[in-house]
Amino acid sequence: MVTGMVRTLIAGNWKMNGLKSSLSEVEKIVSALDSHPDNADCLICPPATLVVPMQDRAGARLNVGAQSCHPEAFGAFTGDLSAEQLKDAGASYVIVGHSERRSEHGERSAYVQEQAHACLRAGITPIVCVGESYAQKQRGETKDTVVRILRKSLPTLGSNDTLVVAYEPLWAIGTGLVPSAEEIAEVHLTIRNLLVELYQDRGADLRILYGGSMKPGNAAEILAIDNVNGGLIGGASLKADDLMAIYAAAVA
Ligand code: PGA
Repeated sequence: MVTGMVRTLIAGNWKMNGLKSSLSEVEKIVSALDSHPDNADCLICPPATLVVPMQDRAGARLNVGAQSCHPEAFGAFTGDLSAEQLKDAGASYVIVGHSERRSEHGERSAYVQEQAHACLRAGITPIVCVGESYAQKQRGETKDTVVRILRKSLPTLGSNDTLVVAYEPLWAIGTGLVPSAEEIAEVHLTIRNLLVELYQDRGADLRILYGGSMKPGNAAEILAIDNVNGGLIGGASLKADDLMAIYAAAVA
């Protein structure tokens, strides 16, 4: 589905899943993409170990990304990877500020903003994630939380830069729970208004993804919501059939 001039992005986040043997799923995805109209982008962010072999198999229609990066370009940072290295390996997007990184690695919004700037420096599109906890939702703080986190996490954009925002309610990730269409619409409109405030006209065309238990069974309904310009999909992106069913809903 194309909202105005915005091209839908169906993005898989494989998290810490996938071995070389999983590349057979990628081969299925690459051949299935050929049987669908080319009016939405498809992306997989595998573990860093698979970026190179996935890119080798990706063809013209599958984009490959990564799941995090260090803010610096190089240096004494054992175990880390820079945006430049990920770009060199073939990544065109990097997820930054995923809730699992924020909670398990203590990555705060100021750091997420540095990561986003590193992506832009390397010529990579950052996917900046944001979401509220269940307690914040219960207290009616969803929109305030999302805006507060995004104000601190979003980068300054140069004239050739772009970014993607992913709204992922923490309580919806991996749980099978999904907000109502009205709730998603309200949060995505709030994010849209913030993007226009921060980036003027360009904010109207930046993609806002929904993430959190998106599946073949609910994708069409979610992707039809105003200001939903695609999905960030965890569990359901691991199987080619599920990811392609979601992609099919996006291009229908
Ligand atoms: P899920 O994960 O689709 O498995 O809920 C989404 C995410 O964490 O990006």
